[in-house]
Amino acid sequence: MKITKILFLVVPILSCGFAHAETQSPKILVAYYSLTGKTEKVARAIADTSGGTLYKIQVAKSYPSDARERRAMLELEIEENELPPLATTDINPENYDIIFIGSPVWANHISQPVKSFLAKYNLTDKHVIPFVTHSGGGKGQCFRDVATLCSGCIVDMDGWSNWGGGTGKKLSRWVQNQIADME
Ligand SMILES: Cc1cc2nc3c(=O)[nH]c(=O)nc-3n(C[C@H](O)[C@H](O)[C@H](O)COP(=O)(O)O)c2cc1C
Repeated sequence: MKITKILFLVVPILSCGFAHAETQSPKILVAYYSLTGKTEKVARAIADTSGGTLYKIQVAKSYPSDARERRAMLELEIEENELPPLATTDINPENYDIIFIGSPVWANHISQPVKSFLAKYNLTDKHVIPFVTHSGGGKGQCFRDVATLCSGCIVDMDGWSNWGGGTGKKLSRWVQNQIADME
């Protein structure tokens, strides 16, 4: 009799808890680095479609405004695989479940600031979905870079790659599909 009473009380409480857990939607972050604004455009569209929080990856130092000087500096950074320190922000990416990670393609790889981001945070067990913009050379090794540098992450190798930062219905559909695959 006593056991029946206990079950009568406990079972509804437990099932209420599970029902709550089931309805909780994953926390989505759209983190990106963008030097000239193209990846940012895609990031904004992804955040709009997914309802995710937009997170701009920023380096602590500033790059030269002169395009030639900047390019030379970046090429050196890439050659030496220097990981620039990042500016601090209020958001902790480790508190999110799904992380879209965006980068321009630099010398066929993800940009150095995005490498810094992946080195800085522990994203173990997070779903990480890469997206890149380029100027005609394609995604290169970018998705593989994310898989290599984000140890313990569940990396979606079916990332988004786009010439010049275009957005549209195809991008929205891709975002919705990738999120549905993760849930
Ligand atoms: C240092 C550097 C290296 C680049 N390397 C490539 C490349 O290998 N392939 C390519 O298609 N575009 C390359 N680009 C062009 C950028 O990937 C492209 O313009 C991108 O859309 C810029 O994105 P952003 O505006 O978000 O910075 C390079 C640009 C820079 C600055």
